[in-house]
Amino acid sequence: MVRVGYPATLRAELLRDFPEGVELIPVSDKMDHDVEVDVWIPDPYTKVAMQTYPHLRGVKLVLSMLAGTEWIPGTVGPHVTICNARGAHNISTAEWTLAAILAMLKYFPLYLDIQRSGVWKRRFEASEHFVRITGEANEVYPPVLGEELTGKTVMLVGYGAIGKEIERMLAPFDVEILRVARNARTEPNVHAVSELDSLLPKADVVVLILPATAESKGLIGARQLGLMRQGALLVNAARGPVVDTDALVETLNAGRIRAALDVTDPEPLPEGHPLWSCPNLLITPHVGASTPQFTPRALKTAAEELRRYMKGEPLQNIVQAAV
Ligand SMILES: NC(=O)c1ccc[n+]([C@@H]2O[C@H](COP(=O)([O-])OP(=O)(O)OC[C@H]3O[C@@H](n4cnc5c(N)ncnc54)[C@H](OP(=O)(O)O)[C@@H]3O)[C@@H](O)[C@H]2O)c1
Repeated sequence: MVRVGYPATLRAELLRDFPEGVELIPVSDKMDHDVEVDVWIPDPYTKVAMQTYPHLRGVKLVLSMLAGTEWIPGTVGPHVTICNARGAHNISTAEWTLAAILAMLKYFPLYLDIQRSGVWKRRFEASEHFVRITGEANEVYPPVLGEELTGKTVMLVGYGAIGKEIERMLAPFDVEILRVARNARTEPNVHAVSELDSLLPKADVVVLILPATAESKGLIGARQLGLMRQGALLVNAARGPVVDTDALVETLNAGRIRAALDVTDPEPLPEGHPLWSCPNLLITPHVGASTPQFTPRALKTAAEELRRYMKGEPLQNIVQAAV
């Protein structure tokens, strides 16, 4: 029997497809005793999960419900294998990315302000915004009240499970895609991250969709932001620390670029933080993957990994192999 600790916050019926031979044990940060488990599915809320771990004994395998697992190695140490839920959040996060790009290019944040003010003629603020953010020197008549995604160049920094899904969803827009990952490859053409600086000036939209690691921390700093085109859109669907927040605040306040962030550094973003009041910025509070399909998909991925583990087959989504 393999003992699997799962978040007590989840309804047990969601785990009905788990393989036979599993004993399911609800675990939580509120427990007043320790429990022995072989496999741990941490609560999707990092804080809750971190407070739960000290109550667990014997964990050999962690099956995260998330794609980003950056807090887990430091919590469980090197002798535990860690798998993520690679693939489970492709659709939700890619849809968020498309929505964020279109919302910014169609000026939805401005139009929501206008709707709330109830003043129709304020729509001409959109053409002032267009001139300011793009640096368009020629007068455009009739005034521009939104932009088009079609024909633009979109850079994907990170070309893994979610990056590929974003590309699939972008296909009908007939955009040029620039792909960047750790390692260069062909078919399709993917550039190495060492080429990032030379590619940034070519992109109208830069999408960050890579893990938070020691290497990716501050990948987008003052220099990279400075290399972006006037009015280019930075979309961070990855993790806050990939972008240098101070440099981003400065670049946004200078009116150089626009940005859409689902993730920030720090997170949660405290009240009064300078990011909240930057111009040309859309913030959503880390909601990209949080759809009704989140839990069933993540648990399906965990169930498949568990089945492999119990049969002694190679695991599919290892982010840390136990030493
Ligand atoms: N906003 C949200 O709610 C949300 C939801 C889900 C996921 N995420 C974030 O999205 C990330 C990506 O998820 P995924 O499932 O697509 O991961 P994945 O399949 O593992 O792909 C990661 C991609 O990032 C690239 N990469 C890694 N380190 C890099 C670096 N230092 N510089 C450039 N590229 C680098 C990898 O390059 P190679 O291909 O060369 O290895 C790979 O292409 C997750 O780690 C998580 O942080 C956010």
